[in-house]
Amino acid sequence: MAKKDSVKQELIGGLNEDLNLELEAVLRYLYHSSTATSLLGHELRELVKEDIAGELNHAIFLADKINALGGDVKINVGMPKRVRSAKQMMEMNIKAERKAVANYAVRIDQAEAFGDRGLVIRLEDILAEETDHAEDLERLKR
Ligand SMILES: [Fe+2]
Ligand SMILES: [Fe+2]
Repeated sequence: MAKKDSVKQELIGGLNEDLNLELEAVLRYLYHSSTATSLLGHELRELVKEDIAGELNHAIFLADKINALGGDVKINVGMPKRVRSAKQMMEMNIKAERKAVANYAVRIDQAEAFGDRGLVIRLEDILAEETDHAEDLERLKR
């Protein structure tokens, strides 16, 4: 395989990983927004409900991009864990948002190596949004 091809395949593999994390976020936020209890849970519900559409838009963008690159869209989504306390939900969401930020940083490097400036810009926007999500959740914790 030529160098350019392997760079592209790695990028597509990474985008599929991102796609599945976004879909997991949609399901987790739907679950948390409908089941969180307590005062903290009330705040959490408001916050994550707002983010469901945004995470879905990220997933739509990624799936379209994978296809545009000639890759296979591979959906392999983990179901949200059953959680009772709002505090646990919050910890779980903070961890997932921070993981998304770290993954997108890697993806931006890969998109740069592949030479797709448009994708770099889109991924930077998504990374900034995930950072906002993480910070909003972390603020609830303080
Ligand atoms: Fe997202
Ligand atoms: Fe997010």
